[in-house]
Amino acid sequence: MRPAAKVILALDVDNFQRAKYFLDRLYPRIKIFKVGIHLFSACGPRIVKAIHKKGGEVFLDLKFFDIPNSVANAVRQAVRLRVKMLTLHILGGAQMLAVAVKAAKEEAGRLGLKRPLLIGITVLTSRESKPGNVLMLARAGLKCSLDGVVCSAREAQSLRKRLKKRFLIITPGIRPGGCGDDQKRTATVKEALRAGSDFLVIGRPILQAKDPLAQAEGILKEIGAYERRD
Ligand code: C5P
Repeated sequence: MRPAAKVILALDVDNFQRAKYFLDRLYPRIKIFKVGIHLFSACGPRIVKAIHKKGGEVFLDLKFFDIPNSVANAVRQAVRLRVKMLTLHILGGAQMLAVAVKAAKEEAGRLGLKRPLLIGITVLTSRESKPGNVLMLARAGLKCSLDGVVCSAREAQSLRKRLKKRFLIITPGIRPGGCGDDQKRTATVKEALRAGSDFLVIGRPILQAKDPLAQAEGILKEIGAYERRD
């Protein structure tokens, strides 16, 4: 049996103070915080250290996509930051992914640290996509030894069925009560769980809620009820 799915809060905010506000309010109910291009461009490693200091874990979502040498060096830096997981675009190609995996192993081994989970981006959930594209990309990523993929809950189920290997599925685009923004391939919490997601990435539905903690608690309760179902 898989362990219960976990919520990752996407800390998509403008500055350190705002990020710290959500960190202080939501930890320890939320334990994993996603730092993406928005927040990392604003305050860099400082926020990663603040999350660790609080006791939380970091999902560094910078979606690396560059020449293999540059990506390998970026991955080494992410290992030094002790992040739990990081993302890179599967479209960057097999060589880029292979050197990233090697760099993560080497750097973690050299420093005696746990290697971060390397998670491949398939197709962004803000875009429409044919299920076949996501499957093809996921297969390519797993062949290069990535630990998991990001995909919408809509594709997760078919990936679980078709790809026999054990791998992590991370699903963004979760909309507990419908959708009215830029996300296209959305799902409710229950749909994501039913599809086999291991991690649910949730940003705006919590960040923009009147009471973010109550919203997070509601989502966690829904996950708990799902895990306890008959
Ligand atoms: O606010 P919202 O819940 O839409 O946030 C979703 C988060 O997941 C954003 O930080 C976005 O960058 C990220 N993401 C995504 N689709 C992907 C990969 C990451 O929406 N394929």
